[in-house]
Amino acid sequence: MSITLNSPLDMHLHLRDGEMLSTVAPLSAKTFSGAIVMPNLVPPVDTKEALLAYKERIGLAIGDETFKPYMTLFFKPTYTKEFLESVRDELTAIKLYPAGITTNSEGGVAGFDVKELRPTLTAMSELNIPLCVHGETNGFVMDREAEFVSIYEMLATNFPKLKIIMEHITTKESVEALDRFENLYATITLHHLLITLDDVAGGMLQPHLFCKPIAKRPEDREALRKVAFEAHPKVMFGSDSAPHPQHAKESSGCAAGVFTAPIAIQVLTELFVEHSTIENLQAFLSGNAQSIYSNISVPNKRIILEKEPYIVPTKYGEVVPLYAGESINYTIKEIES
Ligand code: DOR
Ligand code: ZN
Repeated sequence: MSITLNSPLDMHLHLRDGEMLSTVAPLSAKTFSGAIVMPNLVPPVDTKEALLAYKERIGLAIGDETFKPYMTLFFKPTYTKEFLESVRDELTAIKLYPAGITTNSEGGVAGFDVKELRPTLTAMSELNIPLCVHGETNGFVMDREAEFVSIYEMLATNFPKLKIIMEHITTKESVEALDRFENLYATITLHHLLITLDDVAGGMLQPHLFCKPIAKRPEDREALRKVAFEAHPKVMFGSDSAPHPQHAKESSGCAAGVFTAPIAIQVLTELFVEHSTIENLQAFLSGNAQSIYSNISVPNKRIILEKEPYIVPTKYGEVVPLYAGESINYTIKEIES
């Protein structure tokens, strides 16, 4: 029996730049209709010129695939309303990183002083620009996300008209926060639906599963699975597919990121089928994101999958994907756009 998915969206994706962009962008562009493209390049995408130039490089990298890059800017508390108005039509969201919390985030926000953030966040609310947030403090690694919930609460209550997206949530505390504040939403990755910390560090260390936020406890994964499998209207798929060259992963000082883009749709299909919730995958993978990001235009694309083993390539360029060399149970048979 085949399974059809319409216009899949990846609402959190790292496409990088240069040669890496040429390697990874076509893989997402082939199977997804669009993706929120993260701005953590070196230097970060924080001007209109940089955003437009990056969008053009993405366009060149994807060739004639039907795919929309939804562009983001790297949050700075110095953005003025005039500046945001001038760039409004070119971007879909703004991504906030706490300073130094993950790959290329050194220029992020240090301290969360509402007075300092107010002008930019007020302007974003007025212009209806969603705020995507990497929600971790610099506390103990397993507690960082749960500790950040109080900052989400501060943001959600001070800026009630601002759409705030808790990116790549990994804890039951974040799932609980979703229903407490009308303006909080979340993305969930494939890898956080699959693994716990045990898979990363419980046996031999698995660098290709090391990411930020780090995978948590079984009860956290359960909470994520519950809202993903029921396609809770405030959650959407965001892969956080984050490619790094093999040497940067298999090294002392391993870079954070799991590369899932080329197999995400197939493995999500398997997971939802396994949990008897395949009827909800369409909403999790596209419908919810279209409602939450109310003004994105989404190209039509139809993905047809069949239950048939597929051996995942061991590498794409220099990047080792999730399940490298292993067999997964669903194969994409047809893509129509
Ligand atoms: O694992 C991660 N990798 N988490 C992030 O937040 C950033 C990403 C990256 O850009 O490598
Ligand atoms: Zn990310």
